[in-house]
Parts: sequence; structure tokens; C-alpha cells
Amino acid sequence: FTGTAEAGEKVFIKCQTCHVVEPGVNRIGPSLAGIVGREAGTVPEYQYSPANANSGITWTREKLFQYLENPQRIVPGTKMAFAGLPNAQDRADIIAFLESHSSQ
Ligand code: HEM
Repeated sequence: FTGTAEAGEKVFIKCQTCHVVEPGVNRIGPSLAGIVGREAGTVPEYQYSPANANSGITWTREKLFQYLENPQRIVPGTKMAFAGLPNAQDRADIIAFLESHSSQ
């Protein structure tokens, strides 16, 4: 799948009540800076649910693509209260946006 960071920045509005992409800034959800390629549950000083912390997931592009369609299906019991992004292009775009904040 292919997306653009520019389009993904607009989709990210749906995440912004809970997440930012600035490193070290946790809100309701953990900072998503550097999320692509990282192990789940590893943002310092963020208190994850056991479901997320112990998921054993590495957030590859493919895993994020599945997760963002239906978070509860991929991480049963997660406290992330978000229904998901049914539109595949929205998911591809947001992953491109997150990638652009993942190599800093
Ligand atoms: C966790 C992405 C929307 C609250 C996560 C994680 C990712 C993610 C990748 C796992 C982080 C990790 O393991 O370090 C996104 C994206 C969103 C979105 C891309 C928008 C499309 C939201 C919204 C909320 C939210 C709207 C609040 C209503 C949380 C919480 C966690 C989390 C609380 C921690 C889950 C736990 O510990 O069980 N999010 N999220 N997220 N997110 Fe989101």
C-alpha cells in the first residue's frame, strides 16, 4: 500500500485528541514519534494497559495497517478507545505521515 504524509496529516486530526507526534509528549495516548518499526508498549513514562504492553507486537507498516482498521481485533483489551479507520487509503496515508515522524 502507498500513501502520502501530506494526506495523512489531515487524517491525523482524528488521532490528535489523544496523540501527538512530538517525541516525549504523552497525552491520553503515548507519543507516536518514532512509532513505525518500534516495539509496542515502549514509550517511556507512559502507562499502557497490559494488553498493549504485553502484545509482543512490532509496529511495522503492515501491522499498523491491520491495527488501525480495528484496534480491538489486533490488541484485544486495549484501552485505546478508537473504532478504527475503515478506509484503506486513510490508513495508508496516516502510516506515511507517521513514517515521516519516525526517523528522528
Ligand atoms: C495506543 C495509534 C487514535 C488512545 C496507540 C498505539 C498506536 C496508536 C500505534 C500503540 C502505541 C505503542 O504501542 O507504543 C493511533 C492512531 C490513531 C489513534 C494512528 C488515529 C488514527 C486514538 C484515539 C485515542 C487513542 C482517538 C483516544 C480516544 C490511545 C491509548 C493508547 C493508544 C489510550 C494506549 C493503549 C493501551 O495501553 O492499551 N495508538 N491511535 N488513540 N492510543 Fe491510539
